[in-house]
Amino acid sequence: MDNLLTESRTFPPSQEFSAQANATSALYTEAAADREAFWAKQAERLDWDTKWDQVLDWSDAPFAKWFVGGRLNVAYNCVDRHVQAGHGDRVAIHWEGEPGDSQTITYAQLQREVCRTANALAALGVGAGDRVAIYLPMLPEAVYSMLACARLGALHSVVFGGFSAEALRTRINDAAAKVVITCDGQYRRGKAMPLKANVDEAVAQTPSVEHVIVVKRTNTDVAFDHTRDKWWDEARAGQPDTHTPQAFDSEHPLFILYTSGTTGKPKGILHTSGGYLTQAAYTHHTVFDLKPDSDTYWCTADIGWVTGHTYIVYGPLANGATQVIYEGTPNTPHEGRHWEIVQKYGVTIYYTAPTTIRTFMKWGSQIPAHYDLSSLRLLGSVGEPINPEAWIWYRHNIGGDRTPVVDTWWQTETGSIMISPLPGVTPTKPGSAQQPLPGISAKIVDETGTPVGHGNGGLLVLDEPWPAMLRGIWGDQQRYRDTYWSKFADLGFYFAGDGAKYDDDGDIWLLGRVDDVMNISGHRISTTEVESALVSHPNVAEAAVVGASDPTTGQGIVAFVILRGGTDDTASGQTALKQLREHVSHEIGPIAKPRQIMVVPELPKTRSGKIMRRLLRDVAENREIGDVTTLADSSVMDLISKGLSKTT
Ligand code: WTA
Repeated sequence: MDNLLTESRTFPPSQEFSAQANATSALYTEAAADREAFWAKQAERLDWDTKWDQVLDWSDAPFAKWFVGGRLNVAYNCVDRHVQAGHGDRVAIHWEGEPGDSQTITYAQLQREVCRTANALAALGVGAGDRVAIYLPMLPEAVYSMLACARLGALHSVVFGGFSAEALRTRINDAAAKVVITCDGQYRRGKAMPLKANVDEAVAQTPSVEHVIVVKRTNTDVAFDHTRDKWWDEARAGQPDTHTPQAFDSEHPLFILYTSGTTGKPKGILHTSGGYLTQAAYTHHTVFDLKPDSDTYWCTADIGWVTGHTYIVYGPLANGATQVIYEGTPNTPHEGRHWEIVQKYGVTIYYTAPTTIRTFMKWGSQIPAHYDLSSLRLLGSVGEPINPEAWIWYRHNIGGDRTPVVDTWWQTETGSIMISPLPGVTPTKPGSAQQPLPGISAKIVDETGTPVGHGNGGLLVLDEPWPAMLRGIWGDQQRYRDTYWSKFADLGFYFAGDGAKYDDDGDIWLLGRVDDVMNISGHRISTTEVESALVSHPNVAEAAVVGASDPTTGQGIVAFVILRGGTDDTASGQTALKQLREHVSHEIGPIAKPRQIMVVPELPKTRSGKIMRRLLRDVAENREIGDVTTLADSSVMDLISKGLSKTT
């Protein structure tokens, strides 16, 4: 982080960009003058069936109600209204499959697909308030399914296709989903990997699931339970491609999305309709400067994460955007795949994660140099702090030193972007997310909640409610209060879990999580989650996990384990450690596989038994070990350091 804190370059917007930008500095003044009036104006971006009679009801804080009394249909806003406005022929999605197949889907087609899917779900008994789990890779059917749920007022719970059967099972059960939508298999690095098999394993223990709908993608052989399973085509056969949308209350739940917290149990973050869609549309319009008639937008996130929800499905479609959706990995079949796609579709706005940018850097600037990237006019970054070097590389090699780069800070919980420069307005600084968006209030405070001055660091809080804020944790509202609102209870601040610092100009620099949540390639994984996966293996007596800094993935998972007596920790021990990594992958998913497992005789603990992860992080990052005076037994760190040869 050292270079981050001494970075001082700035890049003022070009006059040419500013002259045409959606955002103007007047937005800040307008929002500051009357926040609620500002948000009411943003809500006018949507088509409401019934207008709200109150912008915000915060009387039951921390449970917000936005656009109280308003009614709308989210899917109608993302699809039908564009067709009605005469844009039915506009491309909604340029879908690019990993093996090279592609589909062009117009808004008129999207409307038919969403309606047919909604009718199929309704025929299976799905109605308002029901939960549908979606376990799909980046296929158009994932978008159809999400919007079909929204249309019916059913909540979707999208589970990332890289999660294990076990992770899927716990999420299905927590939400008591009635239907699961999946596919036979998914393409990953040129190979067809089975997916349905995970669903079969999961739903063996999910009493709520009545039907599994299976999209055919890879033509992989799958087991089929004909009473429970239905092929996608079979479920939709004979269903009309029209459907009259029903308006739902602004606060009607839209989706649940699970994210890691500081305990082993993932939290089902609950989002609702009117406020969420308002902020999704507003931020997508202003931060990405979207011009629906001329832009081709591409967000490379997976639909299984919140970025895919807000900046592939809801924001862009509410704004009538034309976008690219790509199924595969950036190096399949070659390391120029993204740039080939940018060139093919003339992508103008590109939004990705720092970890991807650092991977591109590793592959070399000669790769993008080979393609025509001149269509690009704006670049975005999200998911973790972006180091200035990666920011500069991105702007130079991808943006041709011409495009603004927006570093956007937000979370699953915030639903939409909260802190970001405004392209065309803000002179950007490599590595800084800079300022809360107009309408948003954020502060950096010390442990007592007092704002820190310029040049100082502290904890990031959100001190005013915002439209896309989470409305709670599914089935556990006490946990919602405890997790986000208890640290500064008297002040009513939402605690984001991130450390941050103001520079001398008062711009915000994000410094990473301050809790036990790791950020691996922009994916949130809790240390406790991985620890519980490890100790669920019969050979492990105890485990402690830390996120160690990693040049590509931001952080890498390093596990310290005490093996049970009798477990061989030499020779065949290497195999045992490999099995442990596989075990974690099976319990959570490949993204949670430790980069490194170290076998240790003891773990450093305080007298009250709390594991001192700080010291383990020192070991994992090859640093001199810090202050050990609070350890119950200070010789433990010597033992650990000595035993370090036995690692994988
Ligand atoms: C981190 C992803 C620095 C942060 C949208 C946050 C960032 C967590 C940035 C949320 C950024 C996200 N700069 N850190 N621009 N964006 N983060 O819920 O630690 O998957 O709390 O949402 O990612 O991760 P989540």
